[in-house]
Amino acid sequence: MQVHSSVVPCLLLFLFCSTADSYFGYGLIRCQFDSRREVVYLEQLYFNKVFLGQYNSTLGQYVGYTERTRKIAEELNKSKGFLEQAAKNKKKCEENRELIYDIFLTPVEPSVTLRSVEAASATHPGMLVCSAYNFYPKNIKLTWLRNGHEVTSDVTTTEELSNGNWLYQIHSHLEVKPSPGEKIFCKVEHASLMQPKLYEWESLTPADRNKIAVGTAGLVLGLVFVLGGFTFYKKKNKGHQPVPTSPGTH
Ligand SMILES: *[C@@H]1O[C@H](CO)[C@@H](O)[C@H](O)[C@H]1NC(C)=O
Repeated sequence: MQVHSSVVPCLLLFLFCSTADSYFGYGLIRCQFDSRREVVYLEQLYFNKVFLGQYNSTLGQYVGYTERTRKIAEELNKSKGFLEQAAKNKKKCEENRELIYDIFLTPVEPSVTLRSVEAASATHPGMLVCSAYNFYPKNIKLTWLRNGHEVTSDVTTTEELSNGNWLYQIHSHLEVKPSPGEKIFCKVEHASLMQPKLYEWESLTPADRNKIAVGTAGLVLGLVFVLGGFTFYKKKNKGHQPVPTSPGTH
């Protein structure tokens, strides 16, 4: 269960500062949504970075963390009005639950790149890296297919790394030195995809392909000239067939 990874806060911020710039306090009122679709309503008070106290709907009470705020919390907990208002606010959070999940929790398809890393030394083979970026939710599966078979050895995969913005990335390394003609795929399975998606390893980069295209064009052009020259030579020589020398002329 990945709960902490996808908590959506939806908040209201109050700031209060002293004119001397030496005090800074703020209050946060937030609805917190987690991936179990549970809602927590929070009212939190900070002063000079110190967390003084809060209302937490899980407890249904105000809690103070300093001597002073503990007393205030006690008073607030005795007052029916404050607790009722907090409970009402929690209901409002719940009313917006579907909207929040629609906006934030729809799957986002990863963008996938496949690249090779040069061998560090002769004893180490080269490495292919399959990277998936900017996907949501966190769960994902990357597998390597070599000539139609799943590769399980020489594979290391990182965990899903949080970008810090709801999205995740992951990197899988395959130690391999692809031989020409080999088919290597990185297979991606994710909630955003109706079916697994295959990404083929291509040993030629677009730049390589350009070089080959230019080289081939040059070769073809060269051949055209050679053939053209050859035909011209043939034609020319047809008109001037060497006259057979008759034995009597010498
Ligand atoms: C709210 O209370 C619950 C239950 O005690 C706790 O698990 C959670 O961490 C609290 N939330 C905050 C922000 O303190």
